[in-house]
Amino acid sequence: ISLKPYNTFGINATTRFFSGFYAIDDLKELLLFQKQQKLKSLILGGGSNVLFTKDINGIVLKNELRGIELVKEDMNHFYIKAAAGENWHQFVMHCIEKNYAGLENLSLIPGNVGASPMQNIGAYGVEIKDVFESLEALHIKDLSTRTFSANDCGFGYRESVFKKQYKDEYIILNVTFRLNKQPVFNTSYGAIEQELEKMNVRELSIKAISQAVINIRSSKLPDPAKIGNAGSFFKNPIISSKQFETLQQTNAGMPHFAVDDAHVKIPAAWLIEQCGWKGYREGDAGVHVHQPLVVVNYGNATGDEIYELSNKIITSVKARFEIKLEREVNIISI
Ligand code: FAD
Ligand code: EPU
Repeated sequence: ISLKPYNTFGINATTRFFSGFYAIDDLKELLLFQKQQKLKSLILGGGSNVLFTKDINGIVLKNELRGIELVKEDMNHFYIKAAAGENWHQFVMHCIEKNYAGLENLSLIPGNVGASPMQNIGAYGVEIKDVFESLEALHIKDLSTRTFSANDCGFGYRESVFKKQYKDEYIILNVTFRLNKQPVFNTSYGAIEQELEKMNVRELSIKAISQAVINIRSSKLPDPAKIGNAGSFFKNPIISSKQFETLQQTNAGMPHFAVDDAHVKIPAAWLIEQCGWKGYREGDAGVHVHQPLVVVNYGNATGDEIYELSNKIITSVKARFEIKLEREVNIISI
């Protein structure tokens, strides 16, 4: 079975077995089958943050769990539980319609609710950790269900325990978000204010912020339906202020954002552009013409070709700046 329709990079890798699961009992049965057959497995959501570098000699389990529910309410918050297979953007739109505030800056991020805690998705000054209440996950080996609090998830910049110590151990079943009754508008990041002005917005609302974010994202990021990609391929590196000061002596215009007293974040897009990669193309693997942090597949690139290109980028950025770029995308080679 080809996985091409199931990953936004459009990589034509295959898998031996493939099954969707619509209920937790179906999932448990599939996991028993996997165990009996001694197969490796991969949980797939929207496939918007994976790069297949090999054919999968195992089973791909595609999450189709659905349902959105208001589970609790207090003075200031709505607690909304969404099943892992819900589409992220549709879920955000649903919350905005209902006037549940807090997710508007995270509009138009591809993928499913279940993958959102994996890398603590973030955009335009908000990360899901800011609105996260809890999640339920199924342990792949013993089939027990565990509830994780925000603290248990170990959220960081594009990080969580599910990417690190619990990698491939749990399947996230649902996520509960703590959303505001009174919106707290966050328009300080990037070009949001400019966009709101351009839109002629007179009264600020979560709907207007969402639309501004949608407009900015649509103008900046390539649409996977047209050019294969998985969003930012690398994380923006965080370096010591000391290293930054040294680098600034020879790179006067180096953009940077303070993280804390001793660290700054450097846009990887800038580092990659400085090394001459912007718009680079080798066969069908390339670096996007407008956003060099996005590695793209123009049609028939293989996962290996994309991976090789990312290696070359890492090597050249390291040689020029002594900064080691880390991949954000999940490399799948089971
Ligand atoms: P998948 O790609 O299907 O899976 C990603 C990883 O999570 C895999 O390792 C998979 O095994 C695992 N996984 C998936 N579901 C589960 C589950 N239920 N339980 C356990 N493990 C699971 N990300 C941002 O943070 N901010 C952005 O602004 C952003 N912009 C993007 C723009 C574009 C154009 C694209 C293509 C991607 C962008 N991304 C962004 C990355 C991506 O949207 C997110 O990482 C998203 O959460 C991935 O969801 P998914 O369902 O597609 O995950
Ligand atoms: N830049 C360049 N050259 C370019 C483009 C950008 O030098 O051609 C530099 C500029 O200095 C610019 C800076 O990069 O100010 C930042 O660019 P942008 O605002 O587009 O954001 P980003 O750092 O590239 C991050 C996230 C995105 C998220 C946006 C908005 C990471 C790895 N990426 O991108 O997330 O949507 O900010 O918040 O943190 C993703 O994770 O897949 C993703 C798309």
